[in-house]
Amino acid sequence: MGRKFFVGGNWKMNGDKESIDKIIDFLKAGPLDPNCDVVVGVPAPYLMYCRERLPENVGVAAQNCHKAAKGAFTGEIAAAMIKDCGCKWVILGHSERRNVFGETDELIGEKVAFALENGLHIIPCIGEKLEEREAGKTEEVCFKQLKAIADKVSDWSRVVLAYEPVWAIGTGKTATPEQAQETHAALRKWLSENVSRKIKRSETEVAENLRILYGGSVTAANCKELAKCADIDGSLVGGASLKPEFVEIINASQ
Ligand code: PGA
Repeated sequence: MGRKFFVGGNWKMNGDKESIDKIIDFLKAGPLDPNCDVVVGVPAPYLMYCRERLPENVGVAAQNCHKAAKGAFTGEIAAAMIKDCGCKWVILGHSERRNVFGETDELIGEKVAFALENGLHIIPCIGEKLEEREAGKTEEVCFKQLKAIADKVSDWSRVVLAYEPVWAIGTGKTATPEQAQETHAALRKWLSENVSRKIKRSETEVAENLRILYGGSVTAANCKELAKCADIDGSLVGGASLKPEFVEIINASQ
């Protein structure tokens, strides 16, 4: 009962100190619904800058991290570095990581395992492409991506799942609340049938407690309708998380 509403911001590769200061200002001014967990995914060079300036009630996430502790991995960042910057969260397997940088289900699973073992909270992302939806393969694709993640999760209490249909990301084309709810319900059912029993928790525990966020062109205009859906527990917001309307999206369930 009562999954706490959760809104993540994904700044992607945007921002400089000047524009970040403005975001920090509107997040400080809020007011932010105390019944919503808020986390912003910031570019790696600004992790410490943001953590030092944002209020305690706003978590800070990296947008990616590697599957190894340290070493010869030019350009990568480590879970320990994220923690050393004072941050607790990482977004993993975002569709841009999958589709622009070629990350596979297997690699994302390894990153999930490593980040959790190293104490981070994670926001793993899944979602189908337009041609997959049109071919009626939404569930097949999402379940496959989810399985690669679920098989590697050691602690579900540190996981918030994001369902982001690729065709809705950055396109201004949001899934309808019905489309999103349908997939969220299917994901929760998959979890109740494939995860809970295996790790011998009470049957419904993982599926009922896991927060599943919708992502893809969420704005102040559509966030409330999405928030009303039974299996949508918040959103992961790209473009609109850079703007003051992000506060309205945080407060969508009020
Ligand atoms: P968008 O991005 O809100 O700009 O569509 C969402 C995301 O990629 O997480």
